[in-house]
Amino acid sequence: MDISIKTLIALLPALAATLATAATPDENYTRLCTTCHLPGVHGAPRVGDRENWTQRLHSGLNIVYRNATEGVPNTAMLAKGGHTELSDIELRAIVDYMIAATALPASVLRDARRYDKLGLSDRDFIRRDVSRDGYLSRQEITVDPLLLKNFSRFDINKDGRLSEAEYRRAETVLEQERIAITVDDAELDAAVRKALSAVKGLTPGDVKINVASGTLEMTGIVGHASLVIQAQDAVKRVAGLKGISNRLVSGDQMGWD
Ligand code: HEC
Repeated sequence: MDISIKTLIALLPALAATLATAATPDENYTRLCTTCHLPGVHGAPRVGDRENWTQRLHSGLNIVYRNATEGVPNTAMLAKGGHTELSDIELRAIVDYMIAATALPASVLRDARRYDKLGLSDRDFIRRDVSRDGYLSRQEITVDPLLLKNFSRFDINKDGRLSEAEYRRAETVLEQERIAITVDDAELDAAVRKALSAVKGLTPGDVKINVASGTLEMTGIVGHASLVIQAQDAVKRVAGLKGISNRLVSGDQMGWD
């Protein structure tokens, strides 16, 4: 396409007007995100809370952008904080503003960017990669006895660690094997209760479980967002479950209206 200088000059005022009306990232933040993020309610990280943001950035910047864009399942953080009118670029700019305003040590951001370069995307894999080398060692999966027991079976290239691809395959195969087993609902119910009782910090009465035709539904309010994930981890290895619907929400959302 050929645009003459004349056309460009003619377009300039319109362009300038667009820029002038567009809200800046900090304005957008104040207008759209502070309801939760300023008081830090429902577990939302506050701008300036270095410890909280450092922990989040441990998984890299990309996952933080992704969580902001897609939302964090089972929490008050909806896709784009509930403001789907924002473009991905606008949203990212707000997140960048939140991080910049938190004034984190440069090393935290450097490490986050370095981790991004590994190009990982599986949330569970990233969560378990405590050493942040892009692989899972036996040590990093001790919380998952079934996966640990099957470690060498899924360590295809026998390098003593699981890559993301090996881990994903393991998850797929273990799930297929779980589904292939037939167990009646009463037994499944008991097995689910037992698995959940092993989750530290989870109050048994908080989780309502319903097993029908082999499919589990969990509902209720638990004390913390991480318990939603741990409950999921615990039940996903229960042999015989055909499906899992995790509708638990974290207690820090209570009082949200
Ligand atoms: C209704 C409450 C609410 C609103 C409004 C909200 N957030 Fe959140 N946000 C949360 C909660 C809760 C979390 C923590 C979720 C978790 O990890 O448990 C969160 C987490 C985040 C995170 C961290 C994600 C990560 O990877 O750890 C970012 C970034 C974020 N919000 C950005 C935004 C932006 C940008 C807006 C405004 C456009 C916004 N939020 C509006 C509740 C909210």
